[in-house]
Amino acid sequence: MLYKRMDIEKESPEEIGYDTIKYNLSESSVTDLKMSELGLSLDNLTLEYIGHRGKPALRAAIVSDYPNLNKEHVLLTNGAAGALFIINSSLLTPDDHLIIVRPNYATNIEVPKTIGCSISFIDLSFEEDWKLNLDNIESLIQKNTTLISITTPHNPTGMLMREETIDRIIQIAEQYDIFLLIDETYRDACFKTPYPVTASKSKKVISVSSLSKAFGLPGLRMGWLITQDEIIMERFLAAKEMIYISNSALDEEVAYQFYKQKELFALTINEKALQNFQLLKAWLQNEYRIEAVLPQGGVVCFPRFKKEITVDTQKFYQVLTNKYETMVGPGHWFNLPDTYMRIGFGWTDELILKKGLENISLAIDECIC
Ligand SMILES: Cc1ncc(COP(=O)(O)O)c(C=O)c1O
Repeated sequence: MLYKRMDIEKESPEEIGYDTIKYNLSESSVTDLKMSELGLSLDNLTLEYIGHRGKPALRAAIVSDYPNLNKEHVLLTNGAAGALFIINSSLLTPDDHLIIVRPNYATNIEVPKTIGCSISFIDLSFEEDWKLNLDNIESLIQKNTTLISITTPHNPTGMLMREETIDRIIQIAEQYDIFLLIDETYRDACFKTPYPVTASKSKKVISVSSLSKAFGLPGLRMGWLITQDEIIMERFLAAKEMIYISNSALDEEVAYQFYKQKELFALTINEKALQNFQLLKAWLQNEYRIEAVLPQGGVVCFPRFKKEITVDTQKFYQVLTNKYETMVGPGHWFNLPDTYMRIGFGWTDELILKKGLENISLAIDECIC
């Protein structure tokens, strides 16, 4: 496969250097946690090879709310990104056809492109509130369609699919015998608890999630996929073993000790996300040059300049970054024009968020044509 770096990764804050960005509104996760906050006990951990599927107790905990799921249905991976790579590269070949939602987290589109399969896109639009139009999906199915790939809560828009919509797509996947990948990496970062983990609903669904976004542990690189299908689970395990054998013993132990007490953290995290969301809404109400569909899940919003407003976007991002030391996610990270921007409201504290939003307004003042 001929890999090509994605803009969202090349231009990511961690690649640029966190210490060079004063007002970082480009993140799609909540505030990152420090080891010292987790109350860990790691001294007895042996740094040995560990079971390739991942720590049994953690896998069991991840599906403990679902009587029809058990640890055998869970494979721990290197972040959700690792799970997405394993799934796409195990199910797609150049002879296969994929149906996928766009815009999307770049990896979801770029890995299949790199594999060379044929792809039909379901384009979400601002005008339709980023909602998925179900009429489209069936008409896109071809004889060689192997996979439908959707993301909910959605990155970069924060759109949360309705459970009825998900159920209808599952019906379609079952009817045509197609796998359905549902990237639910933001599932635990919702304003209210959404629908059940979707892999619990059907053998055709593969759910993906991680501890990165909702819990602020992206540096752990701990994610998972869930499927009830034993045959493809075996294939996913084979892929994982070929790439990295197992996860790191240290990551898994930290993740497990955190997971047991995650509700303690979730309360504070969600409270803060909601407070920050109020700040964002207030700014959007006053910033008449920008329009947005408000997110229902996740900690990102994907506003755009109003059509009647002409902004020199190249200058805007330069001024915003260089003069105002503020970073947002430009539209091209998601294959859309830079008149769109992703604003993350969960990562910073209130003061930084407020100042960062004010800086966006100041940069617009300077770049309006
Ligand atoms: C929708 C979605 N899925 C997966 C990932 C990857 O997350 P991680 O590998 O950190 O778990 C991201 C990261 O931005 C994302 O937005």
